[in-house]
Amino acid sequence: MLELLEGRRIVVCAGSGGVGKTTTAAALAMGMAERGLKVAVVTIDPAKRLADSLGLEELGNEPRLVDPERFGSHGVEIRGELWALMLDAKRTFDALIERLAPNPATRDEVLANRIYQQLSSAVAGSQEFTAIAKLYELDQEGDYDLLVLDTPPSRNALDFLDAPARLTGFFQGRAIKMFLRPAGLGGRLLGRGTGVVFGLMERLTGVDLLHDLSVFFRALGGMIDGFTERARRVGALLEDPATTFLIVTAPRHDPAEEAIFFHRKLAAASMPFGGLVVNRLHDAPGPDGALPDELDADLAARVATAAHEVEALAEREAATVERLRARLGDPPMILVPELDGDVHDVEGLARVREHLFAPTGW
Ligand SMILES: Nc1ncnc2c1ncn2[C@@H]1O[C@H](COP(=O)(O)OP(=O)(O)O)[C@@H](O)[C@H]1O
Ligand SMILES: [Mg+2]
Repeated sequence: MLELLEGRRIVVCAGSGGVGKTTTAAALAMGMAERGLKVAVVTIDPAKRLADSLGLEELGNEPRLVDPERFGSHGVEIRGELWALMLDAKRTFDALIERLAPNPATRDEVLANRIYQQLSSAVAGSQEFTAIAKLYELDQEGDYDLLVLDTPPSRNALDFLDAPARLTGFFQGRAIKMFLRPAGLGGRLLGRGTGVVFGLMERLTGVDLLHDLSVFFRALGGMIDGFTERARRVGALLEDPATTFLIVTAPRHDPAEEAIFFHRKLAAASMPFGGLVVNRLHDAPGPDGALPDELDADLAARVATAAHEVEALAEREAATVERLRARLGDPPMILVPELDGDVHDVEGLARVREHLFAPTGW
């Protein structure tokens, strides 16, 4: 892991859902802070217990220093600093509008606008985009040695890669242009039939949708260039040589296939791939599993069957690891075993980080 992170300022933990991205990101950040770095980890949707154990607060959206005492009692001595935050997509989006708005009046108008409020949480990829936007902000403003980014629990890890482009596309897209053109939809909306419909809706719902729409697009119109430029710079951060992607995967068929696909897409997008973390590997039971004599025959048979099943599982997983190794061109690879018990607490994170930083896998 240390070799892999050499000279890197940003590490993105990507992969399909449920493979251990959030756990890896937190444990990785812990391990680097332990080694004296000032690290910030941006987590997204952490399990409640993990958030609690890092002392993360729901509505922070700004990094908070994790109390080193939390780790000290588990034998992890943080010599640097560990900062953690739980991403709040809506708040990040709002902060972006605040920064890009030409004046306070426009800012307030947009933030209070119902269309915006829906949009900022609903636009496809806004969680992915805000994650990178937040990263950009921390990179600009903080003096961290290392930023660790967890990625959203999207089904498809690729959503993350093209989020900036997708959002820029939306803002430059036809929907907005139509509204901004004087003779476009905005103008036509005021025409006969639709005016009646909107009037009726307003009476029924109490919401002046037409007003909201026109305010939204007028105010946003002035920000499109700023927004596009921001999205471009945010996107560029992912291609920076000081950034590296860690693909997290599980030793099972589907996540492995997705890791292979994602690796290919990274290369195609000229984004830097750092290495692979294969998480939750099962260990084959050792050959020294002789059973005590006094075990009755029935129980002994069941134990033997269970042992065979785990062995078969471990074999399949090992084959998957080999396939990953071959398909990714013998990449730097870190293996993390399936751990007993909870990995949500500090104790669990500490164990994961031990494997992540072990000299040669496990
Ligand atoms: N090595 C491991 N051993 C046991 N459980 C693990 C391990 N890694 C992760 N888990 C558990 O798997 C679940 C998914 O992990 P998480 O990090 O939230 O995945 P993701 O962020 O990719 O969705 C969590 O409940 C976590 O505690
Ligand atoms: Mg997660």
